[in-house]
Amino acid sequence: MTSAIAYTEFGNPEVLHEIRVADPVPGEDEVLVRVAAAGVNPIDAKLRSGARPSAPIVEPRRVGADGAGVVTAVGDGVDGFRAGDAVVFTGATGAYADEVAVTASQVFARPSRVSAAEGAALGIPVGTAYQTLRSLGVGAGDTLLVHGGSGAVGQAIIQFAVLWGATVIATSSERRFDRVRELGAAPVAYGEGLTDRVRAAAPRGVTVAIDAAGTDEALAVSLELVDDRQRVATLVRGKDAAGLGIRAFSGGSPQPLTAQQQAWRSEAVPVALALMAAGAFAVELGPSFALADAADAHRAVESGVDGKITLVP
Ligand SMILES: NC(=O)c1ccc[n+]([C@@H]2O[C@H](COP(=O)([O-])OP(=O)(O)OC[C@H]3O[C@@H](n4cnc5c(N)ncnc54)[C@H](OP(=O)(O)O)[C@@H]3O)[C@@H](O)[C@H]2O)c1
Repeated sequence: MTSAIAYTEFGNPEVLHEIRVADPVPGEDEVLVRVAAAGVNPIDAKLRSGARPSAPIVEPRRVGADGAGVVTAVGDGVDGFRAGDAVVFTGATGAYADEVAVTASQVFARPSRVSAAEGAALGIPVGTAYQTLRSLGVGAGDTLLVHGGSGAVGQAIIQFAVLWGATVIATSSERRFDRVRELGAAPVAYGEGLTDRVRAAAPRGVTVAIDAAGTDEALAVSLELVDDRQRVATLVRGKDAAGLGIRAFSGGSPQPLTAQQQAWRSEAVPVALALMAAGAFAVELGPSFALADAADAHRAVESGVDGKITLVP
């Protein structure tokens, strides 16, 4: 039997409980992974609470998309993985578990320099960052404003954008300025007077903005500073994007991601792993919790902690 975390009703973190399920068997084109670390993302908590609407619950709903571990078996049609391989995965249905079957196209070899926790921190944040920057065509000549630059998504956005030649201004709390600077962005505190502070940090103007914070301020300041609304995107306030004439990628948007956008999200993980192996990309780790303490991990992600929260089975 395998331990996994699930819920049978939407609600507070207490609805999360451990269940015992039959050991998973890899189907065609699936890889079975013994999980060493699972990444905890804000979306896991939004789905659990019902804040992000999802289908009615008809059976225990498993939690978690991202993780890292070791391959224990492969299904028919899988080429390139075998038992014992260290891997990172994303797009799983129920990564908060001892063992999980994952579509092979979402499983990637983990270089020895990348820890399981670091690998588990990649999937959703790095995929979202990379796809958003590609969709907006961010590169040399751009000055990018990212709201929520100290978060998991924001840190990945800063690093890719800097690598691709953009100048980056990132909002965060003052306590996080050093981290934002280390990654190559100019930090600016969010809150009253943000527009003026960004103008001072970017005297030649802002050409593109990404909201990874979801506040009214982030949207208003972006609209004030960027002329072309097609170069303003929100990752959190997807429902409001059409009314504002800006772009949204998931984050509550009624528009599903296109095939190209999904392909960029998948491509991001091996790109980040290669950069990490070369010492050119980093993730910030936060607290780790035992699998059985998933409710505490969700309380932590909801209250906001520095670095990526992971669960360790
Ligand atoms: N659309 C998508 O596909 C997609 C994918 C991934 C994530 N998301 C969403 O993007 C958001 C960020 O995700 P994450 O994983 O990066 O979360 P995270 O690691 O918890 O980061 C949260 C960020 O929000 C910042 N923040 C908190 N209060 C703020 C405020 N009042 N004004 C501005 N910034 C504020 C924090 O800054 P300080 O800590 O410095 O205060 C931190 O940088 C979440 O809402 C998540 O659901 C969307």
